[in-house]
Amino acid sequence: MALQRPKGTQDHLPDGSPKLRLDVSARAFRHVTDTAALVLERAGAAFMATPLFEEAELVRRGVGGSTDIVRKEMFMVYYFGDHGGYVLRPEGTAGMVRAFLENGLKQLPSPFKVWTHGPMFRAENVQQGRLRQFHQVDYEVLGSADALVDAEAIWLMVQVVQKLGLTGVQVKLGSIGDPEDRDAYNAYLRGLFAPHVERLSDDSKDRLERNPMRILDSKSKSDQELISELAVRPMLDFLGTESAAHFEAVRRYLDAWKVAYEVDPSIVRGLDYYRRTAWELHHAHIGAKSALGGGGRYDDLAKELGGQETPGIGWAFGVERILIAMRNEGIEIPAAAGPVVYIAALDAEYVPLAAQIALGLRSGLRADFGYKHQKPGNAFREGERRGAAYTALIGSDEAAAGTVALKNMRTGEQVSVGVEELTSLLGSSSVE
Ligand code: HAM
Repeated sequence: MALQRPKGTQDHLPDGSPKLRLDVSARAFRHVTDTAALVLERAGAAFMATPLFEEAELVRRGVGGSTDIVRKEMFMVYYFGDHGGYVLRPEGTAGMVRAFLENGLKQLPSPFKVWTHGPMFRAENVQQGRLRQFHQVDYEVLGSADALVDAEAIWLMVQVVQKLGLTGVQVKLGSIGDPEDRDAYNAYLRGLFAPHVERLSDDSKDRLERNPMRILDSKSKSDQELISELAVRPMLDFLGTESAAHFEAVRRYLDAWKVAYEVDPSIVRGLDYYRRTAWELHHAHIGAKSALGGGGRYDDLAKELGGQETPGIGWAFGVERILIAMRNEGIEIPAAAGPVVYIAALDAEYVPLAAQIALGLRSGLRADFGYKHQKPGNAFREGERRGAAYTALIGSDEAAAGTVALKNMRTGEQVSVGVEELTSLLGSSSVE
């Protein structure tokens, strides 16, 4: 049997593929990252990239030992001659903060705004929008604890999805407070759930000890029933004076900039590094339990990783989920441009000449050629299939005269043009 790709992974396909859908289209992926680049780089974010695998310890300390990601979803990386303490990165933030600390990036203008994109890996149960290798666009800001930075980060995330044409998105905003607020809330939750421990799912029994807040995020139906029966008070009720003021400040900026959001007191997030502001981006067609993206502040992460205290905040969205949402909204992405000219030889002996002309033209425009000689009708059909603006033919007359027979594929007009003139003629046409 022919080998297949691993479960939970996707091939990103070129245009014209029989199995093409927007969420596996290589061009659509590029469109999303290009759009993110445009929006984020206008805001002063630099592009940066970190390795696809990191020390397991980095992820454990960063994302948190009690999270599902670390406990169940890490892909270990083994190779000969090494201790094997590496994992494929399940997310980008821990690596970005490590790189910031390790490379002395705090010497750059502060706050340091940076973005990246690339594959992330989580050994999850595979379903629609839940993959084992997925892709994120990720934005991080290091060096400021100001609520203005939080609001700008949320604004930017919304800008990217709006620029992609998505309308059905919703920002759900919350705060998970400072560590002492969280301790108080967790103590409250332990007290509340302890008498009902036998009704909790096995996972949540475990969470009751390690991190009771995560029970609220449980996907188990019986857990959710218990949560609504007990009328659990939200984290927002437990914010201290400072974290409450910070949350208010973020909201004031968002209101002033007319960013639509909904306060969602139940925002928990699945990673341990968050403090204060936390939010998720949801979409009507993706389902309540799976967000398009999420983010939050992580002021203690740098210290947790052994570096100097550096406040930080950021977000990431899943490119696949963005594309599923775009597909559901019927959004089309700009078509890929074909070659400006497709050059075909009418005899085998002129194929090298066709190639040579195309190679020369490529210093200024998109040019392609046929690897075999073709009849004129086939050459025009091939030019059309590739979306060429012009098709150029080389037969014995043209070869002798140093010309090509150039057909404008839109108007059908055909002229004889000297090879020397092709660059200026095609370069000045409005198709490139
Ligand atoms: P996260 O909420 O774990 O946050 O992931 C962000 C987004 O990645 C999700 O909303 C979802 O769109 C996508 N995603 C996550 N897991 C999968 C999966 N198995 N299949 C497909 N898509 C998935 C983070 O990763 C944080 N690092 C975000 C952040 C950056 N916070 C601060 N800075």
